[in-house]
Amino acid sequence: MTDTVLITGATSGIGAEFARQFAERGCNLVLVARAVAPLEETAATLRARWGVDVETIAADLLDDGGLARVLARLRAGAPGAADSGEAPAAAGGHAARVPVTVLVNNAGYGLVRPFADNALDDEVRHLRIHVEVPLSLAHAALQSMRPRRSGTIINVASVAGFTPRGTYGAAKAAMISFSRWANLVYGREGIRVTAVCPGFVHTDFHQRMGVDKGTVPAFLWLDAGLVVREGLRDTAAGKAVSVPSRRYRLLTALTHVAPSSLVARLAARGR
Ligand SMILES: NC(=O)c1ccc[n+]([C@@H]2O[C@H](COP(=O)([O-])OP(=O)(O)OC[C@H]3O[C@@H](n4cnc5c(N)ncnc54)[C@H](OP(=O)(O)O)[C@@H]3O)[C@@H](O)[C@H]2O)c1
Repeated sequence: MTDTVLITGATSGIGAEFARQFAERGCNLVLVARAVAPLEETAATLRARWGVDVETIAADLLDDGGLARVLARLRAGAPGAADSGEAPAAAGGHAARVPVTVLVNNAGYGLVRPFADNALDDEVRHLRIHVEVPLSLAHAALQSMRPRRSGTIINVASVAGFTPRGTYGAAKAAMISFSRWANLVYGREGIRVTAVCPGFVHTDFHQRMGVDKGTVPAFLWLDAGLVVREGLRDTAAGKAVSVPSRRYRLLTALTHVAPSSLVARLAARGR
């Protein structure tokens, strides 16, 4: 069966690269992001280049209505939901009832200042986009994947999840921990769950934060193409955690033995 892949944050950076590499494999796509024009442009490019079906859902995942529409699309493939009309209008017609077989939880952003300097509301929204939203989407996806005894959930985390790096690192650590557990438990039911943990990647992420990319040494930057290729390879191998690139696998191993103060100093780069 051809996979149908729902990707959040699919218009830029790592999410756009997931969309491209899945389309290259002939998978059909459901792309989610807030801004409509880049979403439609990305969808049109992928349809034209790879001849795959691409649905779009323009939704702010931090907005209850936006999240509900994406949840409805994921539930549309669950047994008994096929004709329930749950699927969002934006996803449209027959395609909207095709079950999503792969979920990529990717949408996210960083906060430039440390915890106590931010408004609490900003911290709560940041926690929601990185933890509550991906858990909600994974929960909905599992309702449709478990009865079919197959499916894949990729949580885009970060190497920051292995380091003391503020609430961003804490949120990513939560998704790494969840993925480890879910991979064990749902792996027995034929569902793969993988946390893909990139280091610094050339995307719009740092620019959106207003961070000077020059503070990070050149050798620490990765291309999204490599991150996604290695992430998909490790997911296919059933790994719970994927750290793309040899240099970050080495650095990650060092975080387990180096003093926390040194790791925290190194991890503070790029903010
Ligand atoms: N770049 C890095 O160095 C790096 C390293 C490790 C991990 N990561 C993780 O990788 C993931 C993707 O980051 P990226 O670097 O590819 O960032 P990016 O280039 O800024 O892309 C972020 C994507 O998320 C979407 N998005 C943001 N907020 C959203 C919301 N509230 N609702 C729906 N969509 C939303 C954006 O589109 P709209 O603005 O149109 O919504 C965009 O498509 C994040 O989870 C990030 O934490 C990044």
